[in-house]
Amino acid sequence: MERAMTDMPDTETILADLARAIAGKQGTEALRAAVEALKRAVPRYTWVGIYLLEGGELVLGPYLGKPSPHTRIPIGRGICGAAAREARTIIVPDVNTDPRYLACSLETCSEIVVPISRDGSVIGEIDIDSDLPGAFGDADRELLERAAAIIAGKI
Ligand code: SME
Repeated sequence: MERAMTDMPDTETILADLARAIAGKQGTEALRAAVEALKRAVPRYTWVGIYLLEGGELVLGPYLGKPSPHTRIPIGRGICGAAAREARTIIVPDVNTDPRYLACSLETCSEIVVPISRDGSVIGEIDIDSDLPGAFGDADRELLERAAAIIAGKI
């Protein structure tokens, strides 16, 4: 996707910044720093948040962007719940055509959800919304799957 290639620093630079930002931090503090690093790196990431899996539900942790009504999402509900159940990244180019979508903001056009896993189990996920349609492509998937692997060690 063209847009994905042109408005972001290269993946290695973003991941190095992310690793630096969370170094020496643990838990919520590390997750907040990770959210800030990703939001800062890519302007088209309008809403960036991390959900943690707790007792079969995704519970919203640190985020940047408008407050979301979806602070607890059962596994299997929404794009977030689908990504957790299927343990795979989901990219939705147009949220208005996806029946699974749980609306957070009227301006949101596209979304990516990337599971955070440890020892083969999903323990959380990175959720990013964009006010631009089709904002997420292969570069975002690679960046965010590698970011999720780094973040997993901090949960
Ligand atoms: N859109 C998500 C809900 C979370 S908000 O975007 C922050 C979903 O469909 O699961």
